[in-house]
Amino acid sequence: MSLPIAVLVSGSGSNLQSIIDRIEQGVLDAEIKLVISNKARAFGIERAKKHNIPYKVLLHTEFRSREDFDQAMVDAITEAGVGEDGLVVMAGFMRIVTPVFLSAFANRVINIHPALLPSFPGVDGQGDAADYGVKIAGCTVHFVEEKMDHGPVIIQAAVPCQAGEDGNELSPRILKMEHRIFPQAIQWYAEGRLKVNDRHVDLRVSGKRCAGQPKADLEPSTYALVWPPLEEGF
Ligand code: GRF
Repeated sequence: MSLPIAVLVSGSGSNLQSIIDRIEQGVLDAEIKLVISNKARAFGIERAKKHNIPYKVLLHTEFRSREDFDQAMVDAITEAGVGEDGLVVMAGFMRIVTPVFLSAFANRVINIHPALLPSFPGVDGQGDAADYGVKIAGCTVHFVEEKMDHGPVIIQAAVPCQAGEDGNELSPRILKMEHRIFPQAIQWYAEGRLKVNDRHVDLRVSGKRCAGQPKADLEPSTYALVWPPLEEGF
């Protein structure tokens, strides 16, 4: 059976689209049971409509407390059929969730963050990294804990940051990698290959820990990025 998932969005939903695309290509074995947006005009909702995926707009402004809002999300997700065997995916969802939400889906909520955590948590990871002047930026998929942008890391991708670049220039390069690592993380979860030991997430192959097996045609620079590039002899 495909992994039942709920996807939470607040904006453009390009990460949602990457998940839809991978499912439609048959490489991600998941079924999106529900898309929730906390913004009425989030383009993510249009993407859900286009692909006949059930969706719900829950405006956080219409709830008395964060807890009430979270409970409404829990109810909607559960009713949609994402239970004990499912996963909740925060894809550009710009809300902090409370224990009401996390206890309903214990260890079953993942998020994508556009920075190499633990560096640059918060709402503008790309801008903060660019302003800091990093040479390597990136993105992180992690399990969600109460503390924001803090849970165990599943996968990260690094991308170069050019001198003088601002967050807007850096963002598309990071986003491109978000679209690759997020569906991959979900597929690993679907295959039951992620084992969480405290802060460490092991990726398993046949029940054993593995260091990761890059695709045969993957350029070494794709999975071992040093930027600026090393020169001859080093
Ligand atoms: C992404 O960069 C995500 O990491 C961040 O917000 C952006 C959302 O993009 N949290 P999209 O809505 O998936 O296009």
